[in-house]
Amino acid sequence: MSELKNDRYLRALLRQPVDVTPVWMMRQAGRYLPEYRATRAEAGDFMSLCKNPELACEVTLQPLRRYELDAAILFSDILTIPDAMGLGLYFETGEGPRFKKLADNKEAIEALPIPDPEQELGYVMDAVRTIRRELKGEVPLIGFSGSPWTLATYMVEGGSSKDFAKTKKMAFAEPQMLHMLLDKLADSVILYLNAQIKAGAQAVQIFDSWGGVLSGPAYEEFSLRYMHKIVDGLIRTYEGKKVPVVLFTKGGGQWLEAIADTGCDALGLDWTTNMHEARQRVGHKVALQGNMDPSMLYAPVPRIEEEVERILGEFGHGEGHVFNLGHGIHQFADPEHAGAFIKAVHAQSAKYHK
Ligand code: CP3
Repeated sequence: MSELKNDRYLRALLRQPVDVTPVWMMRQAGRYLPEYRATRAEAGDFMSLCKNPELACEVTLQPLRRYELDAAILFSDILTIPDAMGLGLYFETGEGPRFKKLADNKEAIEALPIPDPEQELGYVMDAVRTIRRELKGEVPLIGFSGSPWTLATYMVEGGSSKDFAKTKKMAFAEPQMLHMLLDKLADSVILYLNAQIKAGAQAVQIFDSWGGVLSGPAYEEFSLRYMHKIVDGLIRTYEGKKVPVVLFTKGGGQWLEAIADTGCDALGLDWTTNMHEARQRVGHKVALQGNMDPSMLYAPVPRIEEEVERILGEFGHGEGHVFNLGHGIHQFADPEHAGAFIKAVHAQSAKYHK
């Protein structure tokens, strides 16, 4: 496999010197791009797109053709694991993900298999291999998974939720049942991410989108403990190269020290966390990724540039910053504004790396 032409993203995650701050966007391949909507229509629906390695590769590369992004992210979804466990994932237009079967009782949880990544999830590994080949060493490829807690919320609730009532009821009334589910998910995620690394992913990120809805002690018990188990089980060096691990708990700003203590390489931050304070708290241990509010892309371009400057200044001089949005780019974001955002990060950050 060819050497990387642009390794800024990997270098920043390892807190090594870079010329400018690397940048990518969560959900950079998605509905805000007309070319994505066209390819999805060609595939039929979202899951058919995920399960077609050639088309998944095509949409992964689309944002890279438009913008000077410093990383590509595998096009897939965090819910592929519960789908591979037999829950039957489908998408209801405008209503988000749904499952045909739930994992909301002991029998159902006991019956869940741990998917073999090269079998039931073979389409994901094929996509990773295809994308890695087609990237031709331009930028690194990020693999990803959901955290056990975040996956469990979808499997217990049957889809998206506002209050996570069923999952929290299980956590507090029948904790051993939820622990059984989380344990199986952690084992599945370890196999899944290690298979992505062997297939060609050069860094991996765990999306804990719903960790922030828990109290501190419940976060430790039901989310962080399992991400820690995953970090301990991951391949950290592959073919002589470090494979950085990024943990992103949305709403996790209060727990940065504990998250950094898992031994991960970097923390994803949402926009509610101050970069300067985060760096003082954990910057000697981990790199930081973030954290512009994705809604800022609705602002006029000069306002976006001002916000990029503010965040660059908040992080300050030196290494260990990967610029990103604090969560996924919105469906109605203007692609021109996304382009202005990425240009601004590169243009305005050189002075922080002298
Ligand atoms: O970042 C990327 O470009 C890679 C692709 C990616 C998708 N989902 C594609 C997707 C990634 C990294 C994800 C992760 C994901 N999926 C998360 C964690 C990140 C986060 O946003 O918190 C979560 C919670 C999911 C579950 C999920 N998948 C939801 C809630 C939805 C519906 C979202 C909506 O706005 O309707 C999805 C579907 C999904 N996953 C889409 C995309 C591009 C939109 C589906 C479509 O094309 O119709």
